Amino acid sequence: MKIDYIGHSCVLLNGSKKVLVDPFITGNPKAKITADEVEADYILVTHGHADHLGDAVEIAKRTGAEVIAMVELGNWIGAHGVTAHPINIGGSLDFGDFKVKMVSATHSSCLPTGEYCGLAAGFIFWLDDICFYHAGDTGLFSDMAYVIAGFEIDLSFLPIGGYYTMDAKDAVKAVKWLECKDVMPIHYNTFPAITTDLDKFVHDVTIHTVATARPVQPGESLEYEKRGRRPIKKYEKI
Ligand code: NI
Ligand code: MN
Repeated sequence: MKIDYIGHSCVLLNGSKKVLVDPFITGNPKAKITADEVEADYILVTHGHADHLGDAVEIAKRTGAEVIAMVELGNWIGAHGVTAHPINIGGSLDFGDFKVKMVSATHSSCLPTGEYCGLAAGFIFWLDDICFYHAGDTGLFSDMAYVIAGFEIDLSFLPIGGYYTMDAKDAVKAVKWLECKDVMPIHYNTFPAITTDLDKFVHDVTIHTVATARPVQPGESLEYEKRGRRPIKKYEKI
């Protein structure tokens, strides 16, 4: 499955359906495309902050994509004349080849107007039988080990930039707790405040976890296949 890293937290998964997550494209200094070039069947929005909600409403209007978001945010998006599914933490939707479950994130959220729009969230989703976890914006939290790891994640999209979210060191712990097979780092190096040493993150994931780090540069893609974990059993303490 081709996975496009548009930049920041925005990824586009090109399976039997096109699933777009956190489409911050207009104003994204790392984006190499414009919002009117993106196609999608479903759009997942983790929370209302502008660097995640982004162009969701405009893209959904143009493409007919269905939007999945926290109930208050989803209702606001739906009021703009697009199809929205306003779910809440623990809630699931089954569209056949694409299934999605909303999970917790430890972060804040508001509309572009500054108004309240419910909690920030993350998503576990299954596209063509591959299990993905997009953490949205979050600090490290123990549900990663106690709840999310139980879903046997293939590929996690995790923020590593610090300042607004967990940093790279916490993200390595998250990878351990999630027991995911692969991790794509997101939400780093977009702005000066979230400047991060990517090479160190990749090194630490390799040394300290059974996962493989799969960093992708904005505008480039990862050809992803479901596979086994790296057979390393001995952890070093971090
Ligand atoms: Ni945020
Ligand atoms: Mn953010």
